[in-house]
Amino acid sequence: MDLSNLDQDRLPKHIAIIMDGNGRWATNRNKPRVFGHNEGMKRVVDVVENSLNIGIKYLSLYAFSTENWKRPQKEIDFLMQILIKYIDDQLNKLVTQGVKINILGDISVLPKKVIQKIEYALDSTKDNNKLILNIAINYGSRQEILLAVNNAIENGQILTENEFSNLLYTRNQPDVDLLIRPGGEKRLSNFLLYQMSYAELYFSDTYWPDFKLDSLVDAIYWYQNRNRRFGGLK
Ligand code: FPP
Repeated sequence: MDLSNLDQDRLPKHIAIIMDGNGRWATNRNKPRVFGHNEGMKRVVDVVENSLNIGIKYLSLYAFSTENWKRPQKEIDFLMQILIKYIDDQLNKLVTQGVKINILGDISVLPKKVIQKIEYALDSTKDNNKLILNIAINYGSRQEILLAVNNAIENGQILTENEFSNLLYTRNQPDVDLLIRPGGEKRLSNFLLYQMSYAELYFSDTYWPDFKLDSLVDAIYWYQNRNRRFGGLK
């Protein structure tokens, strides 16, 4: 399966990915878990590049959940380092390629160095619009929904669906069309629950560090063969 198999007129606008399996990928190679995260970062570079080439407009990547704080401090530190490295290595390219970075989640509690780096990346890419790259960091969907609800209550508002959507981190973006979860697990893990109401769910046993272009194309091809009814008949 390659790019020529994809129907250009029926691409998913918004793809979300739960990048799972880094740890197991590394363990299978008798390497420390962080080795898997490092390889996983290379797949982030690839999937952004591939999404641009394919013509995907919105890409949401789950990099760090609100539950990931339960991991050993060393692994957390490494994941923060990887974020910094990703921005250091990729930012210039992202700027010229037209990628706009958007953060999903509350970054205010991250180490100061990481916050500064992220803010710099947000500012540098703010005028881009070819691909919106949502990076979820310290993100949880329930927390996101509660934040929106509390915000509305504070303002004494009764909201329409559209107004509610615009209180989420994905404001002004279309719903997720296709969720991809590599790594063998079949669950949503508190990722974009509201935005995935009508998403097609694609699960793959491939670990994220092995999830290269052909795997992405397989997922999109599968999506294009789904019959999306949105509750209606066809
Ligand atoms: C899940 O695999 C993966 C994570 C918690 C981290 C994902 C982060 C990256 C791919 C790094 C770079 C990200 C960006 C945006 C630069 P796991 O550790 O739960 O794997 P396991 O289930 O095999 O243990």
